Amino acid sequence: MKLYGLIGKHIKHSFSPSYFAEKFRNEGLIDVDYRLFPLSRISEFKKLIATEPDLTGLNVTIPYKTLIIPFLDSISEEAKTVGAVNTIKFTGTKTIGFNTDVFGFTESLKAHIGKENYLSKALILGTGGASKAISFALNQLNIKYQHVSRNAGKGLLTYENLNKSVIEKHLIIINTSPLGMAPNINSYPDLPYKAIGKQHLLFDLVYNPERTVFMKKGIEKGATVLNGLQMLHLQAEKSWEIWQEP
Ligand SMILES: NC(=O)c1ccc[n+]([C@@H]2O[C@H](COP(=O)([O-])OP(=O)(O)OC[C@H]3O[C@@H](n4cnc5c(N)ncnc54)[C@H](OP(=O)(O)O)[C@@H]3O)[C@@H](O)[C@H]2O)c1
Repeated sequence: MKLYGLIGKHIKHSFSPSYFAEKFRNEGLIDVDYRLFPLSRISEFKKLIATEPDLTGLNVTIPYKTLIIPFLDSISEEAKTVGAVNTIKFTGTKTIGFNTDVFGFTESLKAHIGKENYLSKALILGTGGASKAISFALNQLNIKYQHVSRNAGKGLLTYENLNKSVIEKHLIIINTSPLGMAPNINSYPDLPYKAIGKQHLLFDLVYNPERTVFMKKGIEKGATVLNGLQMLHLQAEKSWEIWQEP
């Protein structure tokens, strides 16, 4: 029996169990299971691995992507640089951490990006855990970026700084804040949307709802828009690949 699963805090409505159940069904995989393991604090991880000897792989979500690191035997270079782990592989008695959000974001972005976007710059809205994977990915793609935060800080733009000229210079705008995510579906990042045009790509990491207000406002201006669903699927598939490697 190979046991996979997800650790996090409020994970009752997570997409992963149904995604993997369908995958197991479609691929005719038997003797495998994917389960939710809600942890009220990260120190419970030790007890979990002691009581579940069949664990082969885990995904990690909010709020443990960074807090899990000291509990692992090793982590990949990528996860170390990003400072977050969303995938754990169990090899015998050892645990190794990876970050597959970088892969998911990169592949999803590459499929939708135009030449003008590559040559332009990006704005990353939010400075939380997900934003670190995004900045790592943009560095790899050689796309310059600036973070936008609610709080002023070194090297940061604030929402008050976002005027027409700034928006026109940044053709990729990535929402890594939870604004727009269910149940708060009417919220959206505070941007001068008037300055958005056809050449912009608005990438929302939020995937529920499938079309956020941020995306709708982009569509109204003729921009290309993308939600986080493909990224979510790609990161899950990459986790699966890592778990299957010998
Ligand atoms: N599609 C995918 O595969 C995927 C993968 C990972 C995450 N996500 C999604 O990405 C989002 C962010 O995840 P995360 O783990 O980075 O979350 P997080 O750490 O809780 O928040 C991200 C950042 O958003 C900003 N923010 C938070 N509340 C805000 C508000 N009310 N108004 C404006 N800005 C606000 C904050 O930055 P400042 O304080 O600097 O403003 C915060 O650090 C979530 O919706 C998550 O579901 C999707």
